[in-house]
Amino acid sequence: MSGKNITIIGLQWGDEGKGKIVDALSGDCRYVVRFCGGANAGHTVIVGDEKYALHLIPSGILRTGVRNVIGNGVAFDPEVAVEEIEGLRSRGVEVGDENLAISSAANVVMPWHKLADRLNETRLGAGKIGTTARGIGPLYSDKATRTLAVRAGDLLDADVLKGKVARIAEVKNAIFSALYGHTEPIDAEAVAGKYLDYGKQLGGMITDTGAVIRRAISEGSRVCFEGGQGSMLDIDHGTFPFVTSSSVTACGVPSGAGVSPKSVGRVVGIAKAYTSRVGAGPFPTEQDNEIGNRLRERGREYGTTTGRPRRCGWFDATAVRYAADLSGVDELALMLLDVLSGFETLRICTGYRVDGVDLGVFDSVAAVMGRAECVYEDMPGWEEDIASAKDFSDLPAAARAYVERISALVGRPVGLISVGPERKQTILYDTQLQGPVAGG
Ligand code: GDP
Ligand code: IMO
Ligand code: MG
Repeated sequence: MSGKNITIIGLQWGDEGKGKIVDALSGDCRYVVRFCGGANAGHTVIVGDEKYALHLIPSGILRTGVRNVIGNGVAFDPEVAVEEIEGLRSRGVEVGDENLAISSAANVVMPWHKLADRLNETRLGAGKIGTTARGIGPLYSDKATRTLAVRAGDLLDADVLKGKVARIAEVKNAIFSALYGHTEPIDAEAVAGKYLDYGKQLGGMITDTGAVIRRAISEGSRVCFEGGQGSMLDIDHGTFPFVTSSSVTACGVPSGAGVSPKSVGRVVGIAKAYTSRVGAGPFPTEQDNEIGNRLRERGREYGTTTGRPRRCGWFDATAVRYAADLSGVDELALMLLDVLSGFETLRICTGYRVDGVDLGVFDSVAAVMGRAECVYEDMPGWEEDIASAKDFSDLPAAARAYVERISALVGRPVGLISVGPERKQTILYDTQLQGPVAGG
């Protein structure tokens, strides 16, 4: 339970398989901490015959002895949290204040955030971001505005919450009617009552989680920081404005969890062996054709949160290398390699050409993506089904070569290789992670 902390970061556009890896690694951790995003995330964890789709609750919840933390940087939606907790309990998973803590400083997603998200997307029309409609952008806007924010700790104080909701509702009513012609006023009293009720249900879990984690780290407990989204969706470093609204790289861990930058520990970058993206925005290796359709069907690429079909394309080593540099990735987990079985040829994007000029390794990647042309390298594919491979040597030679090539292009060892959604379908390869990283 002690030793180096682990940080799990998505290196593409989300849905890389972070939930599977956090679950696999958390058997050896005391804490699993979410630090960014909110219910826009959908992390799939499969344990035995049971499949769980987690949105706000950290992916360590299925391990006994692990304390799960929703950090201060998370967009906390109590409505989703209560529903998710009830769903887990109804399936026999224990959730209580001994294994789940919520930061009192986490900003609360209110009904007007979800409404604003929908109205704003409708207003943008063809130029919309394609958000998850979970109120994420409006929530973080209000956090930055400060005077329009509700924090989880406020759910525990009736006078404070009623006062805040009444004041904020007045501002929101004016904005909704002027900007969107939405004239149905917010029932401030009803909203305050509903959220006070959430406070009653969650009260025992709401605490200063930063203090809890810092103490745990100083006492030698191992913490796993669970990333949400993917680096190319980062508010600062992603394909702006087609991004989410929080800091989702390893740079977001210290402020989003309330720990020192030195606590980040070993950074494991999660990447699919190809690429997917859901929502609008640039995607240089996208295959809007039979190849993309085949990847989508084989990889079951439909959103965990919204059910939307994901856009699919070839592996983009240029983007992944950029993301790995941003987060200081120590090793990669290469996911869904099994999905590539049966392709005669696999393409890897090894660089971008912009206005006829080849981009260098350290040039801005996200900013030029919209007009980048991919330089591809072709590799032979393999026919064999690899879902039951247990060891690197069980993989066909072409699959081994593909993994090694990605490692060389991204400049990182491939620590873990995933060949199926289950815990045991994880090959330990060039890893320095210790403990029961898989199969437990
Ligand atoms: P996350 O948001 O990063 O946690 O990823 P999602 O759960 O949204 O999407 C990943 C999907 O791929 C889930 O349905 C997983 O069950 C599935 N998955 C994870 N690893 C593998 C793998 O190696 N092979 C296959 N075929 N599916 C996988
Ligand atoms: P996980 O943690 C994939 C995308 C949305 C949209 C953009 C902005 O499961 O990997 P938002 O609702 O955040 O304002 O939407 O970001 N997006 C994700 N895509 N996986 C996610 O999370 C995502 N979270 C947000 O589709 O393009
Ligand atoms: Mg997901």
